[in-house]
Amino acid sequence: MLLTKHKSLIILTIISIPTILFFFLQIQTTTRTSPQNESTTISHNSCITTPTPLLSSSQTLPATTLINKDNDKTLSITIVSGGNRTTSDETTLLIKSILLNHVGNTQIELNIATDLYNMNFLIENVFNRIKVYRTQLNVNFKIVNLTRIDEECNELKIPIVHHSGKWGMVKLFLDKVFDTVKRTIFVDTDMVFGTNPDLLFSEFDKFKEETLFSWTREPNWESKGPNHVCSCIFLWDMKKTRKVNYLKEFAIPASIEIFGFDEKTQQISKEKRNGSDQDFLFALNKMKPNFFNELDPSWNLANCQNFFGVPSRSRSADRTTHFMGAIHFNCAGNTYDDWKGWEWVKEYLIWYRWDWFSRPYENNKDLGKSIIIKHSFY
Ligand SMILES: *[C@@H]1O[C@H](CO)[C@@H](O)[C@H](O)[C@H]1NC(C)=O
Ligand SMILES: *[C@@H]1O[C@H](CO)[C@@H](O)[C@H](O)[C@H]1NC(C)=O
Ligand SMILES: *[C@@H]1O[C@H](CO)[C@@H](O)[C@H](O)[C@H]1NC(C)=O
Ligand SMILES: *[C@@H]1O[C@H](CO)[C@@H](O)[C@H](O)[C@H]1NC(C)=O
Repeated sequence: MLLTKHKSLIILTIISIPTILFFFLQIQTTTRTSPQNESTTISHNSCITTPTPLLSSSQTLPATTLINKDNDKTLSITIVSGGNRTTSDETTLLIKSILLNHVGNTQIELNIATDLYNMNFLIENVFNRIKVYRTQLNVNFKIVNLTRIDEECNELKIPIVHHSGKWGMVKLFLDKVFDTVKRTIFVDTDMVFGTNPDLLFSEFDKFKEETLFSWTREPNWESKGPNHVCSCIFLWDMKKTRKVNYLKEFAIPASIEIFGFDEKTQQISKEKRNGSDQDFLFALNKMKPNFFNELDPSWNLANCQNFFGVPSRSRSADRTTHFMGAIHFNCAGNTYDDWKGWEWVKEYLIWYRWDWFSRPYENNKDLGKSIIIKHSFY
């Protein structure tokens, strides 16, 4: 529950962050026992009962299995939440969707690459409001030094042109940022889960020796270009990518091959790219098909693609067998207002009370486990 004091002391001394910051962080993470004011998320709630999950498990699922053969069944999810308020608001809903849809006993590891502002926002508005969760929940914050990302991009000849700038590029380096994480689900903050994330995690069972990633692709993505794959939600075997140094040894050479090298700037050419981190994974997938598996598109119901025809809520649509893995509110101009017909998803998440997450089962009062929060610097 508390910070690992020794670790943060050592780290902070090394990188000489003012002592005041240390105390600030201590306060942020040690005052988590005070009761939270729910007024921003709920009011007149006395007649509201706990909602049921969005889907029942009897509905059609993509071909997958719930039995995770690997011994480590920890549900690991990695998020980049940096930059500004839009991101932290989105992240709040994403985390809620994870906790709400997670069923079963696997412990959860949330790895969040972030800045101080977002970390404190999430501690205050998310984790302080729960305190205990049904299964063990470990939260690992990494406060990322963007100058370091800049240097690493320069070294690899990567021009930063992503619409979300350096925070977008952090994604490529996550196996270094979280250098002990083994297998994880990466998910963008403009997405929410509609079903148990364990189901997605169990797609790791399909990995072969050489498989590093699994993601969603549109038909004919090879010829259509980097906008037709999605690095928004994907399985990432970080243990393997670290071992092979995937970026330097494979993704960068593949990108130079696909996009060309600009002799003038001495960087990977921007001309054939759309300027995001996923360009590099696109190139890698094209040159090294064996590194990638494909996920069912229901794990990326993208607004850009009109949610692939999955109907939003209506009397009849509620009874469809469409499987709602994860919804992607992209191409929505960074507002929450453009989700035609899907507004109920946001409303549902906003109005679900944080304290319901920590409510123990009636016949097992000891089930709640303290949330463990750690932070360190990259
Ligand atoms: C909750 O916060 C609101 C707005 O800051 C405030 O008006 C209200 O009195 C607070 N309620 C409690 C119970 O602290
Ligand atoms: C961030 O990284 C740069 C380059 O590695 C370094 O010079 C700087 O001191 C770092 N800043 C902090 C606050 O650690
Ligand atoms: C926040 O991020 C969004 C999306 O990247 C961007 O459009 C907006 O300008 C940013 N706002 C601030 C205050 O940085
Ligand atoms: C960049 O995005 C646009 C709009 O989606 C698309 O038409 C174009 O083909 C993309 N370019 C590349 C090189 O993928």
